[in-house]
Amino acid sequence: DQNKFQAIISHCKEYGFIFQSSEIYDGLSAVYDYGQYGAELKKNIRDYWWKSMTQMHENIVGIDSAIFMHPTIWKASGHVDNFSDPMIDNKDSNKRYRVDHLIEGFAETLAADAAAALIADMEALLKENDFAGLKKLIEDNQIKCAVSGTVNWTDVRQFNLMFSTQLGSVSEEASEIYLRPETAQGIFVNFLNVQKTGRMKIPFGIAQVGKAFRNEIVARQFVFRMREFEQMEMQFFIRPGTQKEWYAYWKEERMKWHQSLGLNPANLQYHDHVKLAHYADAAVDIEYNFPIGFKEVEGIHSRTDFDLSQHQKFSGKKMQYFDPEINQNYIPYVIETSIGLDRCCLMILSESYEEQDLSTADKQDSRVVLKFPAKLAPIKLAIFPLTKKDGLPEIAKELMASCKTSFYCFYEEKDAIGKRYRRQDAIGTPFCVTIDHQTKEDGTVTIRYRDTMEQERIPLAQVKEMVMRKIME
Ligand code: GAP
Repeated sequence: DQNKFQAIISHCKEYGFIFQSSEIYDGLSAVYDYGQYGAELKKNIRDYWWKSMTQMHENIVGIDSAIFMHPTIWKASGHVDNFSDPMIDNKDSNKRYRVDHLIEGFAETLAADAAAALIADMEALLKENDFAGLKKLIEDNQIKCAVSGTVNWTDVRQFNLMFSTQLGSVSEEASEIYLRPETAQGIFVNFLNVQKTGRMKIPFGIAQVGKAFRNEIVARQFVFRMREFEQMEMQFFIRPGTQKEWYAYWKEERMKWHQSLGLNPANLQYHDHVKLAHYADAAVDIEYNFPIGFKEVEGIHSRTDFDLSQHQKFSGKKMQYFDPEINQNYIPYVIETSIGLDRCCLMILSESYEEQDLSTADKQDSRVVLKFPAKLAPIKLAIFPLTKKDGLPEIAKELMASCKTSFYCFYEEKDAIGKRYRRQDAIGTPFCVTIDHQTKEDGTVTIRYRDTMEQERIPLAQVKEMVMRKIME
């Protein structure tokens, strides 16, 4: 549903979640900035992931490695030689397209059966690296799919997706380095550091969250596909031969995590990879039903000992682990879980966004509400004095002072209460409390629930504890 997708994009902009990067300069394509509420939402998801990986697993620790890394690392990892996508240029418009995105675009204009057949043809050709076949597929479909005019295509060619820059001053001995296209390699090259200093015993994991960069061509899906994005990755080091069971374990464990975000299970599915990345012996995606269809949010990959073996070969340092239980040295195998934080934000926004018609017989009314789980909501509690006088703001500010050390609160005394409630609905605040004249008499406040819009009176003294309890759920 493209309309819903567009509505979410507009809402994100209007309410301070996500802005186009460099907007006053007409923007930078496929790069986005998070605004005041988007940054909070993103941080809450990041913190939730971090806690569920590290604090909740005694054998997983977190690190924070640099974006710049030794250039040989990307040679060893295979990214210099293999991290490329087949692209094709339109000679008339000078526009470059990723072949798969172009063909997926064609498929979107077709009926379901024809679209599925086209995608299947494409996948078969991609698997064979049959570039001539891909070019023919594009030519055969461009007219059917309403691409106007004649198009002069170049041949299909491979383009590397890594960004590069220079380390050191350009005039002196500058050396070319890459912006990391995944955070995973920062974990692999620190495997021994962490294992030794943390006295880690296999099986154990290393997690990290950080920026990654890919020169995506034709990136037109909002924060779904960006050139600068954030990954949350975990590499789980295991004894060779146990990869099947650990792969099954993490596949299930990660699906449970998604469900713990309050997502409707019907909106989540697995998608087994047919075409495996250069490092994997098994791979599955967890896909979410975005308004633009089921698409990948997370990948779980069985990476064998590919990465550590490659680093051993390229660095000349032994990447081995001594396993005291079986009295053997070996290069561990790895199961990876890799999720995009920006995609995760888009998933939560898509799941939470609702346009509601609240019209009654005598009045037209509607609202947009973001039904975020309380633990992920940017603001947990909005505090409103009913009026600006009679000592009500003082009571409200006292509540604000006592709550803001524990969770994010928002104070507002302007406009009618109904209007203030609606503004909080639009940014997903689960609870609003109003301080009125009765508060001065009996110490109760009105609490209003975002999803049901129901209101009830509860003791002022219980507000903080109630919100704390809800955000821990
Ligand atoms: N270390 C393995 C790895 O990087 P990947 O499937 O290429 O695997 C993992 O990426 C996740 O990173 C994806 O599932 C997706 O959520 C996110 N991701 C990848 N490219 C992205 C992009 N251009 N924009 C936003 N997120 C992206």
